[in-house]
Amino acid sequence: MRARIWTSLRALPWTSRRGNCIFSWVTSERAPAYLHQATRVALRRITHHDQEEFTGLAKASAEFHRPWIYMPTTATEFYAYLARFDHGAAEGLLVCICETGAIAGFINITEIVRSSYQRGTLGYGVFTSAAGQGYMSEGFELVFRLAFHDLKLHRLEADIQPGNSGSLNLVRRLGFRNEGYSPGLVLIKGVWRDHERWAITSDIIKTMH
Ligand SMILES: CC(C)(COP(=O)(O)OP(=O)(O)OC[C@H]1O[C@@H](n2cnc3c(N)ncnc32)[C@H](O)[C@@H]1OP(=O)(O)O)[C@@H](O)C(=O)NCCC(=O)NCCS
Repeated sequence: MRARIWTSLRALPWTSRRGNCIFSWVTSERAPAYLHQATRVALRRITHHDQEEFTGLAKASAEFHRPWIYMPTTATEFYAYLARFDHGAAEGLLVCICETGAIAGFINITEIVRSSYQRGTLGYGVFTSAAGQGYMSEGFELVFRLAFHDLKLHRLEADIQPGNSGSLNLVRRLGFRNEGYSPGLVLIKGVWRDHERWAITSDIIKTMH
C-alpha cells in the first residue's frame, strides 16, 4: 500500500516533496513544477505565467543590475526574452524561494552546443529583494545538477566584465576557473565590452563533492 502511494506521488507533475516547497505548491495558484530543490530555493523553468512578477522585479532591480545586465521590464520585452528559450539550445530558469514561491533570480543556460562540446553559456542575476542572501549560490548548485546530470553537459561558461565584483565573487565561490580575458567580447548597449572568461566543468564538480 505504502509503495503504491509513493508511486502515485512520483507520478504527480512536480518534483518537490520535501521541505517547504510542498507548501508553496499547495498554496500557489499554479504548480511550480520544480526541476530541483535545495534547502531554501528551488529551480524551475520560466513560463508566460511569470510575466507580471518577473517584469515587476526587473523594474525594481534595474538600477542594481546596471551596467551589467538589462532585463525585460515590459510585457513585449518579456515575451521576446521568453522566446529565446527553446529547451534545446537554451534553458530559461528561475531560482525561487521555497517558503513563498517568489522569484529570487534567474540563471539561464544558452548557446548549448552538443556533440564533442557539450557546453553552455550562463546568464544570471538576482532581484534586489533577494540579493546578498546566498540564494543564487544555492540556486547554482541546482543548475549544476540540471546541467551536468540531467542535460549531460560537460562545461558551463560565464563571461564577466572585470569590474563586476558581485559576479566575480559568486563564480569564485562556486569553484569556476578563470580561463582568460577577451577584449571587446560582447556588445552591451552599443559598446563592445571586455570580459573575463570563467568556466566550470563536470569533473571540477565531482572533485568538490
Ligand atoms: C552576481 C549576482 C547574481 C550575485 O548575487 P548575490 O545575491 O550576491 O549572490 P548569492 O546569492 O550567492 O549571495 C552571496 C552573498 O550573500 C551572503 N550570504 C548571506 N547569507 C548567505 C548564505 N546563507 N549562504 C551564502 N551566502 C550568504 C554572502 O556572504 C554573499 O555576500 P558577499 O558577496 O558580500 O560576500 C548579483 O550581484 C547580481 O545580480 N548582479 C547584477 C547582475 C549581474 O552582474 N549578472 C551577472 C553578469 S556576468
